[in-house]
Amino acid sequence: MVAFRALHLDCLQMPTAEHNLLGDTAAPGRTGRTGRSVLDSIGNTPLLRLERIGRAFPHVEFCAKAEWFNPGGSVKDRPALGMLQAGLASGALRPGKTILDATSGNTGIAYAMIGAALGYPVKLFLPENASHERKLVLFAYGAETVLTPGDEGTDGAIRRVRELHAAEPEKYFYPDQYSHAANWQAHYHTTANEIWEQTGGRITHFVAGLGTSGTFVGTTRRLKELNPAIRCISLQPDAPFHGLEGWKHMATALRPAIYDDTLADEDLGVSTEEAYGLVKRLAREEGLLVSPSAAAALAGCFQVAAGIPRGERAVVVTVFADSASKYLSERFWQET
Ligand SMILES: Cc1ncc(COP(=O)(O)O)c(C=O)c1O
Repeated sequence: MVAFRALHLDCLQMPTAEHNLLGDTAAPGRTGRTGRSVLDSIGNTPLLRLERIGRAFPHVEFCAKAEWFNPGGSVKDRPALGMLQAGLASGALRPGKTILDATSGNTGIAYAMIGAALGYPVKLFLPENASHERKLVLFAYGAETVLTPGDEGTDGAIRRVRELHAAEPEKYFYPDQYSHAANWQAHYHTTANEIWEQTGGRITHFVAGLGTSGTFVGTTRRLKELNPAIRCISLQPDAPFHGLEGWKHMATALRPAIYDDTLADEDLGVSTEEAYGLVKRLAREEGLLVSPSAAAALAGCFQVAAGIPRGERAVVVTVFADSASKYLSERFWQET
């Protein structure tokens, strides 16, 4: 909470209504108002201990940040709030502007939720094959969506957003989550510190998948400051065409400007099939209904655990980006 509270309080110093709104959300005690706003509920997610699924590695404790506890349902509430706050603070996001970005879904949902809470319209470009549930959620929040060719993935959506923004820059606030420092900084200020506090500083390994890379880059930068001995391992799909929604195969994708490939101690590939297998095991052995990308993160943790000598104790922490709720209609649940 500490860091977002600091961000909110920074906003308190700003004169406009939007900033006061954000400030109020963080300081109910100061304003005498009861309860907390939806925006103040972002972050501070539980760190879940996996009790059974990692039993092949008795010397390793596996923990995961349950990011679906964020009000928008995913890890992306954190960077979306950070980028919109940065826009409000600089004046780039002001009344009359529409929030515009390309997103495979979760960041769009976060923009749609926060935009609604702040009173800003939101327009999103996403690949037509993004899950049906994601599109329904965006519609429910009142966001405008533009579907781009599925075979071009998020890169096709990014190209089209850039064209639109270049044509009408005065109409839109385009945070560009792939290039905006507030994306990784949100994780630097919140996710990393929460993990450090929730493990009592016992974390030995941090493992996370790469999409925009914000989660991995920001969390790793802060954790390495807190303890340089923490090993940080990034994960990618093991092939350009994959079913890990939210992850990027960096070698063949548009490279996010915020991605720093020198940060990882190791970079591992995860197969979609392995993730589909683990997603069902997580549901049935742990009672956790998570997304394929969360299961893929656990697959990466198991690869890491396989390399940790039996005599060594380890605390491996990962991020479960979202729950299964947006993927329940997918076929893999039925496959054996
Ligand atoms: C489901 C899911 N998992 C993982 C990620 C990756 O997070 P990041 O963009 O911070 O690298 C995303 C990003 O959109 C996502 O939607």
